Amino acid sequence: MQLPAPRGPLTERLFAELARPPHGFGPPPAGPYGDRHSNQHGDRHCDRHCDRHGDPCFGDEDAQLALFVCYELHYQGFDGVDDRWEWNPSLLALRERLETWFEGWLARRVPRPPAPPSREVPRALAALVAADDGPSLSAYLRSRANTAQFREFVVHRSIYQLKEADPHTWGIPRLLGRPKAALVEIQSDEYGGGRPERMHAELFRATMRGLGLDDSYGAYLGLVPGVTLAISTVMSLFGLHRRRRGALLGHLAAFEMTSSLPSRRYSQGLRRLGGDAGARRYFDEHVQADAVHEQIAAHDMCGAFAAEHPGLTGDILYGAACALTLDRLFAEHLLGRWREGRTSLRETDAEVTVR
Ligand SMILES: [Fe+2]
Ligand SMILES: [Fe+2]
Repeated sequence: MQLPAPRGPLTERLFAELARPPHGFGPPPAGPYGDRHSNQHGDRHCDRHCDRHGDPCFGDEDAQLALFVCYELHYQGFDGVDDRWEWNPSLLALRERLETWFEGWLARRVPRPPAPPSREVPRALAALVAADDGPSLSAYLRSRANTAQFREFVVHRSIYQLKEADPHTWGIPRLLGRPKAALVEIQSDEYGGGRPERMHAELFRATMRGLGLDDSYGAYLGLVPGVTLAISTVMSLFGLHRRRRGALLGHLAAFEMTSSLPSRRYSQGLRRLGGDAGARRYFDEHVQADAVHEQIAAHDMCGAFAAEHPGLTGDILYGAACALTLDRLFAEHLLGRWREGRTSLRETDAEVTVR
């Protein structure tokens, strides 16, 4: 994967450092993640696109991309970036500042649900999911989206789906016993149960090819806005910090619990637009798989983890709430842009459409 174009002074500086061999560098000057000012959204600094277009605020594009890139060093890395940057102390110091900014960004948007007693966790997760009243992106894609919009949706989703399940895998060595077995059971399905062609990331690549899109990892990183990056970044944040393992499990549970029905609708929408069985298989697979995964995630994984760690039930619910909120922000962004007849991708000077 290539480093994308910078989105401001922070990523300009970071990408210039990454292009060189690993070395120590001072933190970039107070930037979007700094302490300069607040705006009406309560952010310390708001995305320029937000001011210009009046979009909902997704935090600063520059900071979102910087943090995403810092985390990506733990996954596939970037062409021309030395692998040793992954554990470079200066890089990690910058990442920590960005994480503090991002955690604050999340905290302002996601009210912390009350911590339930351990035995109530599966029920509390179900109630949280049932109370979610965000707009239905899947209903729109099923019956109204045109092909260009469906392709945009798949471009956004490719940022996470081409590494589907990887961020939650960080949780495996942080668990013991029943919750660990449950997480491994889910992840094993996500990774195709030993059959590479059944890996969910591979099925998603087939969907991309069916829509005439580039299925290579990270091909569209430069085109997606901050809200799309945040969907992946929150999983890496929870996955890479052991203290956040409760939130990681709650996040996965919410993900699984809100996947089966929308996946059916995505498949129906793609069929309406002429997508063949191979292109639809990713969604069809999730209708079945996630109906099972949601039970495993809520009861065997989160329920058992809560019984072992009664002090972390609030974290489980918070992780789930973060997943639901980001999903809602994502849906609002796409539907809002489409309602205005605009692309939901970044309207940079160079590229407005998916080629
Ligand atoms: Fe999956
Ligand atoms: Fe799943």
